[in-house]
Amino acid sequence: MKRIDPNRLVHVTNRRYRQHFHIQTPAGWLNDPNGLCYFKGYYHVFYQFHPYSAEWGPMHWGHVRSKDLVHWEQLPVALVPGDPEDSGGCFSGSAIVKAGRLYLIYTGHHYYGDHDLDHFWENQNVAYSDDGIHFTKYAGNPVISAPQDNTKHFRDPKVWLYDGQYYLVIGSQDAVDHLGRILLYRSADLLHWQALGPIFRSKDASTEGYMWECPDFFRLNGQDVLVCSPMGIKATPHRFLNENQVAYFTGQLDYQQPHYAGGKLAEVDCGHNFYAPQSFLTPDGRWVQFGWMSSFSQSMPEQADGWAGCLTVPREVILTDHHLGTIPVKELASLRQATLFDQPLIVDRTNELSQGGQHCEVQLTVPFADGGQFSWALVTGDHPLVSLDYNHESGWVTVHQDGQKSDRYAHLGPVDQLNLQILVDTSSVEIFINHGAATFTERYYTEEPVTYQLNSSTPRKVLLKVYQLEGKEL
Ligand code: FRU
Repeated sequence: MKRIDPNRLVHVTNRRYRQHFHIQTPAGWLNDPNGLCYFKGYYHVFYQFHPYSAEWGPMHWGHVRSKDLVHWEQLPVALVPGDPEDSGGCFSGSAIVKAGRLYLIYTGHHYYGDHDLDHFWENQNVAYSDDGIHFTKYAGNPVISAPQDNTKHFRDPKVWLYDGQYYLVIGSQDAVDHLGRILLYRSADLLHWQALGPIFRSKDASTEGYMWECPDFFRLNGQDVLVCSPMGIKATPHRFLNENQVAYFTGQLDYQQPHYAGGKLAEVDCGHNFYAPQSFLTPDGRWVQFGWMSSFSQSMPEQADGWAGCLTVPREVILTDHHLGTIPVKELASLRQATLFDQPLIVDRTNELSQGGQHCEVQLTVPFADGGQFSWALVTGDHPLVSLDYNHESGWVTVHQDGQKSDRYAHLGPVDQLNLQILVDTSSVEIFINHGAATFTERYYTEEPVTYQLNSSTPRKVLLKVYQLEGKEL
């Protein structure tokens, strides 16, 4: 297997935007979370990684592990591209444990050598490890090649075990109608795969996408949930406002006559900075999701400092009445170092808080028996970096991010009480509303001190908690 060249590694030159409790690279570029799993006493997270610059480049798999889902340690790069099965990159994929061995199933990305980055082909490969640190690429790679009726888009396998057989889904584009679709495969040993065909597809490029990347598939509360990142959905006034979105469907997978009967497409996260999530099952039975807290189209000021991108905090996936929501995993409470504020507060017009800053958890309980409007903002001076506003009359939550062309929205309807759980790190804000009703993932950049502002249309008694959070910077 190819090796990292230590002389070419990029280095962090300024730590002003480095996160304190999120997974990030030691230096270099990060995108999708990959290979989430629990193996021999550790949670493992891999990520799309370019170690030689803060730009996207030939993809490696970076690797961290943790005993508690909160404190992570960097491990050696798990996959280095450049072998015949992955000549142009080790693209996204997933992990599974079989008989004490950790298997990674990932996409080999290949260029035709004409210097055109859009001229590529893709296949699927396996690597394995017995210690969870050192990986060997399978000598029989590739294990899956694209079917005849597929375009070049054929990537991001997500594997699982069902009824004694292994299954995986692949993100794909149909060569005939050029729409996104999901392909299903089956195997007895993770090495030999049988194609079961397309099981679900986009109905229209502008409403459901021309390519479905990063499929995720899991069973929760009697539903088979399909999550994917469709490319090409056209924006509407309140939805699909990012370049590419993350969508989910609930439904049932028929394993006998392979077909997924999925319902309506809905968005997983409403924020400006969320893409390509993946989930895994913890030993105690929770589906936990990580997403990439960015997107290809957004500028990231940390690139000037030799790094780019980070993952979200781990989020527990919950499903209520076909609505998929996420909440921070309970383990994150161990980041709380001190309680800075914990009492009722009358918010009357704009209140500036003296408690809070760049590494905090904010919990707000806001009553709306009398309707009206309420907002929370992260500010420097009077300048909002990220703000959230809820209007009881319209039922809309609006989230603004400094420097972005448009706001982002979630429709909550007229709720009696607004519950906000907000996690602020050096350069990100994650907002969880009403226990999974909506989530916003946002980034912000400042070198000035920050504070929080609360604002209410009429005097309102809210419950406010602010905790200082401290993790171990990776
Ligand atoms: C999604 C994605 C995947 C691909 C990877 C390459 O962000 O485009 O489809 O495997 O990133 O880095």
